[in-house]
Amino acid sequence: HRHLTGIAGLQPHEIMFLLDEAEQWVEANKERGRLSDRLTGLTQINAFFENSTRTLLSFEIAGKRLGADVVNMHAGQSSVKKGETLIDTAVTLNAMRADVIVIRHGSSGAVQLIADKVDCPVLNAGDGWHEHPTQALLDALTIRRRRGAIAGQRVVICGDILHSRVARSNILALTALAAEVRVVAPSTLMPAEVERMGVTPFSDFDEALEGADVVMMLRLQNERMSGGFIPSTREFHMRYGLTPERLARAKPDALVMHPGPMNRGVEITSSVADDRERSAITEQVAMGVAVRMACLDVLTRHERGVEGWA
Ligand code: CP
Repeated sequence: HRHLTGIAGLQPHEIMFLLDEAEQWVEANKERGRLSDRLTGLTQINAFFENSTRTLLSFEIAGKRLGADVVNMHAGQSSVKKGETLIDTAVTLNAMRADVIVIRHGSSGAVQLIADKVDCPVLNAGDGWHEHPTQALLDALTIRRRRGAIAGQRVVICGDILHSRVARSNILALTALAAEVRVVAPSTLMPAEVERMGVTPFSDFDEALEGADVVMMLRLQNERMSGGFIPSTREFHMRYGLTPERLARAKPDALVMHPGPMNRGVEITSSVADDRERSAITEQVAMGVAVRMACLDVLTRHERGVEGWA
């Protein structure tokens, strides 16, 4: 079986395949309840060692819509609190004969560590600063549907690039699919390896916004910063906050995106976030369910004796 630990392990045609697979669920998801019995009889464990609203719930809804038996493990209520190691937790989940495991963890690489220990497909729901592959897939699907294509789109990603697994996975996916990616951050929140990422770095947000097709805003990941580097939110908003005036520099029909959770008034003003025409933020959440249905389905095909990846 294959795991989905990151976009880094995927070929461009495999990313497109997952987006194409997700398309069938976008329309179907307008109905309520179970949509398919593809995963009937399979046990899906969602093991979340970090807080989540969107990712946890959408993975749960996605599994249930496909007929899986879904079990959630919240680390705060688990024996992790009693000192059980990650490896021992993985071995325990494996002994319960899960058919697919979805993991969120605060440490980069933790998902791969678990994937190496279990006998079923593992999906990364976000690991530390490393990757959040289903977020990048749902963002790519949103862009493709709203802009008609991904190739050639000028996508500006702004904010705390350094600590963002969302930025890392999006950069990998969007550059693989031939988008033009610009990243904007203060120097303290720009990764040192940015030159090797196939993107154009900017420190001036206004400059980066010229001609943008998509503007993707990121939250300051305060929980991943050590004291001295936390910028003042007021100053950050002044230089890197998306306001209506700033957005006017992008193309007139540019799309505004945010993975959530948002800090309104910091990286984005409410009037921009709630702009029904320009903001795709709630649509991103809806695409998240479709994309996670596609990932759960495709990743378990081998187990179900169905032909897998394209
Ligand atoms: N975008 C995202 O991962 O949100 P949650 O942390 O709420 O899952």
